[in-house]
Amino acid sequence: MAYSNLRNFIETLEKHGELQRVSAEVDPALEIAELADRAVKSGGPALLFENPRGHTIPVLINAFASMRKMELALEVDDVQSLADRIAEYLEMKTPQGLVGKLKMLPKLAEIGNFFPREVRSGACQEVVKTENFSLYDYPVLTCWPQDAGPFITLPMVFSRNPISGKRNCGMYRLQVFDERTTGMHWQTHKQGAEHYRRLASEGRETRMDVAVAIGADPATVFSAILPLPPDLDEMLFAGFMRNKPVEMVKCKTVDLEVPANAEIVLEGRVTLGELRTEGPFGDHTGYYSLADEYPVFHVECITQRKNPIYATTIVGKPPMEDYYMGKTIERVFLPLLRLQLPEIVDMAMPPEGVFHNLMLVSIRKSYPGHARKVMSAIWGLGQAMFTKCIVVVDHDVDVQNYSETAFRALNNIDPERDLQFTLGPIDSLDHSSRLADYGSKVGIDATKKWPQEGFRRPWPDLIEMDEAVKARVDPIWEQLGIERAD
Ligand SMILES: Cc1cc2nc3c(=O)[nH]c(=O)nc-3n(C[C@H](O)[C@H](O)[C@H](O)COP(=O)(O)O)c2cc1C
Repeated sequence: MAYSNLRNFIETLEKHGELQRVSAEVDPALEIAELADRAVKSGGPALLFENPRGHTIPVLINAFASMRKMELALEVDDVQSLADRIAEYLEMKTPQGLVGKLKMLPKLAEIGNFFPREVRSGACQEVVKTENFSLYDYPVLTCWPQDAGPFITLPMVFSRNPISGKRNCGMYRLQVFDERTTGMHWQTHKQGAEHYRRLASEGRETRMDVAVAIGADPATVFSAILPLPPDLDEMLFAGFMRNKPVEMVKCKTVDLEVPANAEIVLEGRVTLGELRTEGPFGDHTGYYSLADEYPVFHVECITQRKNPIYATTIVGKPPMEDYYMGKTIERVFLPLLRLQLPEIVDMAMPPEGVFHNLMLVSIRKSYPGHARKVMSAIWGLGQAMFTKCIVVVDHDVDVQNYSETAFRALNNIDPERDLQFTLGPIDSLDHSSRLADYGSKVGIDATKKWPQEGFRRPWPDLIEMDEAVKARVDPIWEQLGIERAD
């Protein structure tokens, strides 16, 4: 059964020993962040702060902060099973004959279950505040000492493409500037920013409707960070993940819909052309992202449950909660990546690479220059374009084993020959690139080099013991008892 809201998820986390309630009074300024950081780094539970200092609204943090919690969030035993489900749909072929068509009906009927459904009312509108409200009524965290202020860090930001009318949902942090205004940190490559540019270039409107939902059933929250193609509705993908449609309710004051089961919804407008300094903010790269000019969100109405829970996260030096969310995306999106690039056997984004800095890819190499083709394709694929360093290895390297990958890659490269540099778009959070959003990337071809690639020397085999010898030695090894328990 799909979770119907955030509360169901909290109950499940608690039942599985994955949530700890904190009744002690703790400050939303820095203290909650420090506790959450220690909790995630020690493999601890999600935390529900029942008494954030100065507030009556509880704070939920680290609800996605391990693979186990991700499994509970997506109601699977292993996130791989979600990837397998995607692969099953992708492999659906035109059925042969009547029996084939009949067999396919249940699968097709299932698809109907994924589309979001509009409902007339929702718990997220139990209370509607158009006057006398303040963002300071909510326990928004200040995460790190040099942060410019409190930031809403786990928001689902809804906007509409003014050309196609299609909805987008992205997770973009919001710096609270005052009681009714925040920053709108949609980076230039993201869909919210594209909607903003399109609307501005049309010249018909002066403001853009935006709705921000905070806290909902976990699949819906998670869907906000998925790197889906433009105009593919995250709510449809959320429906697929939870096997149940996301119920959407019309906002009270803007022309958008939000998940009916959300905890808190900020409705308002972004004035086209208005920019304000946003940041610095202790970011998921482990560094502070620099202050920069971003649009401003004017909150004009807040709707919420009677007793809402404020869901949030903190990012910083990896691994943190977002690493586990990203690792899940890596697994779930592999079948989609393989649709374009079937030669890819596996890929991994180690935590130290903070997603955009490092991707390890194993391929079944079939022709000269194949590794470079794969790099170029990855740099041309949605948000994978940001990847600063791509390491391509042969199919027999386990890229989930970072030590093995480093050992194989470092042995296999002639640096001058095997490094491919390119210039292009760079993640807005990268502080090292020569210009904001623009810089260089490197691909490392660590595959075995072929004569057709100009390699004329013999390529040695990896050292492996004969299987027969290993089998003969197994019992002797047991008898000797040399192996230490740890
Ligand atoms: C906790 C968290 C915070 C994020 N904050 C931002 C942000 O402030 N700005 C941004 O552009 N992307 C941010 N992202 C990444 C986007 O949510 C992600 O790139 C998403 O795919 C964007 O959606 P879109 O393609 O619909 O624009 C964040 C991701 C996570 C997990």
